[in-house]
Amino acid sequence: MSTSTTDILTDITDGVMTITLNRLEKKNSITSAMYAALADALEQAAGDAAVRVVVLQGHETIFSAGNDIADFLNAPPMNGESAAFRFLRGIGAFPKPLVAAVCGPAVGIGTTMLFHCDLVYAGDNAAFSMPFVNLGLCPEAASSLLAPQRMGYARAAEALLLGEPFLAESALELGLINRIVPPAEANALAEAQARKLAAKPVTALIETKRLMKKGQAGAVAERMMEEVQSFSRMMREPAAREAFSAFMEKRKPDFSGV
Ligand code: COA
Repeated sequence: MSTSTTDILTDITDGVMTITLNRLEKKNSITSAMYAALADALEQAAGDAAVRVVVLQGHETIFSAGNDIADFLNAPPMNGESAAFRFLRGIGAFPKPLVAAVCGPAVGIGTTMLFHCDLVYAGDNAAFSMPFVNLGLCPEAASSLLAPQRMGYARAAEALLLGEPFLAESALELGLINRIVPPAEANALAEAQARKLAAKPVTALIETKRLMKKGQAGAVAERMMEEVQSFSRMMREPAAREAFSAFMEKRKPDFSGV
């Protein structure tokens, strides 16, 4: 499994830290090492006065295929001490503006991390999905709280119980993203918007974001913890084992006994 520091690229220019998922050969699926690099980058960005805004982006063909399933099988990462959870806690409580550019598939954490971004720009090829149930798992990143809130229960149930993808147009209509652009323009637009933000007083940005999020900061942290406890238990149960083996063996899972 190729996981190196080049799988997550970071750059700081003019007050904007750009974090790029850069593991195209595995569809930007995220390994533990990548979660650690993401968590480190966010920690640095939160504490570094030279960073006023963060951009999260992938490639114009793929945002992220979610957790790296092979890595998951080797070392189930979802517990309260894991790098994955450190990233989730970091993004959930990130104090400065977060801007995302999303093109192509955004699977699992690829979608749920967007609930924690302030501005999201999508390519017209973006496809969002949260197929946790299809993997014998439950939602993460407080998406069991935030998806029903943001999408309404009916649409959230379709997305979380059926695990079906929804496209950029639906995401725009639901208010999950800010704008749809041609895929080749999404990263540049996110960067341009981030630069606009970086030119504003960072103290005012931080306080405004804090106030907008204040109503549910505690509930988000609490739900993330509850989800991670269920998630790590479910990882060891037959449904997830079957789903993950099926993925590795490139076959359809058989959930008849679970
Ligand atoms: N974990 C590990 N490897 C993954 C992966 C993942 N989540 N998603 C894709 N890959 C790997 C594939 O195994 C394949 O590797 P190989 O070339 O060594 O065989 C490579 O990335 C290309 O994937 P492929 O499925 O051929 O690309 P695609 O363009 O046809 O489809 C996706 C892209 C994202 C739609 C599809 O890969 C997918 O559905 N992935 C699984 C998503 C998922 O269930 N994630 C877990 C969420 S919790």
